[in-house]
Amino acid sequence: MSLVDDYGRRLTTLRIAVTDKCNLRCIYCHREGENYSVGMNCDVDIDELVSIVSIGAELGLSRVKITGGEPLLRKDIVDLIYRISSLDGIEEVSMTTNGVLLSNYAYKLKEVGLKRINITVNTINKETYRIITGFDLLDRVLDGVKSAVDAGLTPVKINMVLLKDLNEDDIPNMIGYAANVGAVLQVIEFEKVGVVDNELYDKFHVSLDRVEILLSRIAIAKYCRSSHARPRYVLPNGVIVELVKPMHNPTFCKYCDRLRVTSRGELKPCLLRYDNHVNIVEAIRCGASREDLKKLFLLAIARRKPYFE
Ligand code: 5AD
Ligand code: SF4
Repeated sequence: MSLVDDYGRRLTTLRIAVTDKCNLRCIYCHREGENYSVGMNCDVDIDELVSIVSIGAELGLSRVKITGGEPLLRKDIVDLIYRISSLDGIEEVSMTTNGVLLSNYAYKLKEVGLKRINITVNTINKETYRIITGFDLLDRVLDGVKSAVDAGLTPVKINMVLLKDLNEDDIPNMIGYAANVGAVLQVIEFEKVGVVDNELYDKFHVSLDRVEILLSRIAIAKYCRSSHARPRYVLPNGVIVELVKPMHNPTFCKYCDRLRVTSRGELKPCLLRYDNHVNIVEAIRCGASREDLKKLFLLAIARRKPYFE
């Protein structure tokens, strides 16, 4: 079965915030478009998460991305990945992490079915890392990246959010680092979402144009990924660099293939909107049937609309 929304967009992926808690304090964090006050112990129970994914899988969502907050802060994360990976219809489970705790987990996660991983490393300069995240933990994160590569998670992607005056000039270093460890580099435009206000946005937002020009000059090939039509450049040293340009980008929205689940258990049709969530966990708690839960998925999908048209 395949799910297509009213704008002809095929849905493939469920992106789940499994907690809103985090062990870093990144100055740019959009908290996955959530605006609840953090840390009230409202994480959704593992059985409820598995139920949500199994309904999504039955409807045709075959990929799951686990995110947060920081997903590795959940004590049951290995069990959760195992149970989700084992569901009928789920072809790929991946995770986005800040990497701080990853060296303890990479092998276990691979063993229970995690396929690939995104690790946020905005810079390999220790001082810049401390300024951006609030913690002097770069070495631990780099150990985490190494463990992920050694464990055979493929690809390992480095997420780098480009921030004005902070890491703008780090692109060549980051390309070198990605080449050394054997990772894909994903450069992400800073987004104005949720708790990111105008002041923060004006302070740190910078377009990816300069990066794009640099990459066009040195790349030996360029193509687009289906998801969000993200451009990808292949560099002479073999490194792949992917650009994520979500802001004011109708093409990005046109190729959006995901439905989100918030850390409070709501289906979230669009990262940038707060007025159209569908509270599925509440229905599960009230004993709703699978058929009713499927209807809630279809309702969330019916509420999907490209944000930038
Ligand atoms: N803009 C762009 N990316 C962001 N992330 C967190 N906040 C923002 C923002 N305001 C990134 C994280 C991580 C991914 C899940 O989203 O750094 O790489
Ligand atoms: Fe936000 Fe991720 Fe940084 Fe945590 S690690 S503060 S969730 S961007």
